[in-house]
Amino acid sequence: MQIKKVGVIGCGLMGRGIGEVSARAGFDVVVSEVNQQLLDKGLAAIDASLAKGVEKGKVTEADKAAAMGRIKGTINVQDFKDCDLVIEAAIENLELKKKIFGDLDKICVKDAILATNTSCLSVMDMAAVTQRQDKVLGMHFFNPVPVMKLLELVKTIATSEETLSAAKAFGQSVGKTVVTAPDVPGFIVNRLLMPFLIEAVRLIESGLATREDIDQAIVLGLNHPMGPLTLADFVGLDTAYFICNAMYDEMKENRFAPPVLLRKMVTAGQYGRKSGKGFYDYK
Ligand SMILES: NC(=O)c1ccc[n+]([C@@H]2O[C@H](COP(=O)([O-])OP(=O)(O)OC[C@H]3O[C@@H](n4cnc5c(N)ncnc54)[C@H](O)[C@@H]3O)[C@@H](O)[C@H]2O)c1
Repeated sequence: MQIKKVGVIGCGLMGRGIGEVSARAGFDVVVSEVNQQLLDKGLAAIDASLAKGVEKGKVTEADKAAAMGRIKGTINVQDFKDCDLVIEAAIENLELKKKIFGDLDKICVKDAILATNTSCLSVMDMAAVTQRQDKVLGMHFFNPVPVMKLLELVKTIATSEETLSAAKAFGQSVGKTVVTAPDVPGFIVNRLLMPFLIEAVRLIESGLATREDIDQAIVLGLNHPMGPLTLADFVGLDTAYFICNAMYDEMKENRFAPPVLLRKMVTAGQYGRKSGKGFYDYK
């Protein structure tokens, strides 16, 4: 199937990025929010991101105007009815995502592909509330979407090859390199990343190494662009904690169990960069 019109549910951090790259690639885009205020904020963020691209000489004024012209904001889910692909990027809550998939299944044309940008939830659980399990998959973009090159496509036991190949073609047309991942918690990237991040937290928790030494060791010893504690602060400690718990709940393996220190930091509101304090101070 050919994808021409793309819907994006949620215009937060990820939704606005997915909307931006889709519009820049020439797709008509509908993006939704829960209210007009959040929608205006999200659309303004897309405009600002494109303006930054113009400043850096990566986008022309004409391309910016054309991309913005292709994006329609809405707070009415009925506006997704004629989309060929809808990517859900609402908050990470399975009950909410199931409700959204149930609604989309009733509203969207029968051939439309329904995708979720979930970081760790079961895609099959979302597919199961629809009458089109073969047309549901995960499309896991990375933050910031306009910059990060990877797109993980998450194939459930019910996703058809046709759906997967249409999603692959779409991903490539928005400039991403596509990998196919299984519908297991963490997919590929977070399954490898989370045990690594929480092992760094355990080193801190047990007082065996300093945060600076841990980060420097990984940056200089493994050539990573940033150390695991800096990265954990960037991802958000609340997000990392949520993902680890989801992985542990499903697989009951100790390597995914979040350390007590991580839970205490989240309880204290120390979420990392976004709250001004995590393993480092950002105030
Ligand atoms: N932040 C990341 O680094 C990252 C990376 C990959 C995947 N994800 C996943 O992407 C999804 C979105 O994450 P985010 O960081 O953009 O969160 P966010 O909180 O920045 O944005 C989510 C937005 O969805 C909106 N929303 C909630 N319910 C809605 C509904 N019914 N209809 C329309 N909009 C609705 C919220 O108002 C909010 O603005 C989550 O599933 C998350 O796990 C996040």
